[in-house]
Amino acid sequence: MRFGDARDWFFEKRFGLFIHWGLYALPAWHEQLQWRGRVDRSEYEKLAGDWVPHRFDPDLWLDLAEEAGMGYLCLTTKHHDGFCLWATKQTDFCVTHTPDGRDLVYLVAEACRRRRFPLCLYYSCVDWHHPNYPNQGRHHELPGPLPGDQPDHARYLDFLRAQVEELCTNYGPLGGFWWDMNVEEHVDPSINARIRELQPGAVINNRGYDEGDFGTPERDWDGGLDGQMTLSRPTEACQSVGIESWGFRLGEDYYTDRHLQRSLAKYLARGANYLLNLGPRADGSIDPHQVGMLRRLGAWYHKTREALIDVEPASHLTTNRDVLLTRRGTTLYVICHRELVTDSVKLKPLAVMPTRATLLNSGDEVECEVTVLPSEHATQQPCLRLRRLPANELAGTVLVVRLEFDELPEAAAAVEGDERLVR
Ligand code: GLC
Repeated sequence: MRFGDARDWFFEKRFGLFIHWGLYALPAWHEQLQWRGRVDRSEYEKLAGDWVPHRFDPDLWLDLAEEAGMGYLCLTTKHHDGFCLWATKQTDFCVTHTPDGRDLVYLVAEACRRRRFPLCLYYSCVDWHHPNYPNQGRHHELPGPLPGDQPDHARYLDFLRAQVEELCTNYGPLGGFWWDMNVEEHVDPSINARIRELQPGAVINNRGYDEGDFGTPERDWDGGLDGQMTLSRPTEACQSVGIESWGFRLGEDYYTDRHLQRSLAKYLARGANYLLNLGPRADGSIDPHQVGMLRRLGAWYHKTREALIDVEPASHLTTNRDVLLTRRGTTLYVICHRELVTDSVKLKPLAVMPTRATLLNSGDEVECEVTVLPSEHATQQPCLRLRRLPANELAGTVLVVRLEFDELPEAAAAVEGDERLVR
């Protein structure tokens, strides 16, 4: 899949860092504290007086991202709370009206430009601060307008357009625009058209005012994707390091290493991009636990990425749904993204011996055989079987095996009755 223009960086980079950062990092509970925690707007606003991120250094964020093998960044410029991380002229509820005063989007953009790191900007359509946003108690909205509010969606969109104009003109070339939470479900393609005019290299997601360029399955809620082997449109899955929150949360319920490996693998192997989120602390630093998680995921990814990048999805070559397959020429990769219940993997109906089989996690050779298994007595069909995998020793790890063939016969390997489903 290609757009055929400057947006194609998206298909080169594949794995990106999502950053949720804003006033909500101060109480460190959830990025939607104001709504989920029932905090009055006037109380929430006071957090701006405590915004002093003295350890903020975007180069440290990018160092970490690069170390993990990530190639782009997506930053929350304005979340649902309405607080803006840049020097906007459209509202006082922004960084320049805090004790810190710096334009943080500018500083992130400058670091990204210097390091050739495509930068995407997240922007929330819903707004719990702007007097014209028609809060009506729909999902992700305040229960209703607050005293003094003047709900008027058309005027709110004027404000939003003026902000988009600032973001698309003052911060250099952008890699993307990442809308979120269009609760109104209002459609207006002219908004993205303006972004495209100003930022031809920007990929735009599907959570704004039209369908945009790519889909955004989130966390593991999109269970349906598990039954799909290929995607019919560009896709970028997003996931956070913890299950409860995207912004920094003290005492967060963090995912296991294996869960994140599995999540990254299952999307990359299907040809989707993957955006993994960290929530920096209010001072701008990243919690050492999150740093450790990303480093460990990066270590796994560096060993296994050849199975996930510049490959074609190939899961249709086997009926075994506990593994995902990808291929590059006559090399086939077996990604054990589901828990192994035995120390072996059967690749029915493949029945060809590879010339070499290697476990990418360790570099060790993997034993293979083509044989008729007792469970296949009715058909007497032989199949390729990988044996004695270190399923116990590496129980916390997604195992990935590289199989090299002289020839990988398409016909012999094709699964009867194509089970492929597309979105
Ligand atoms: C969900 C959350 C929101 C977060 C977004 C990131 O929509 O509600 O807070 O920013 O996911 O994808």
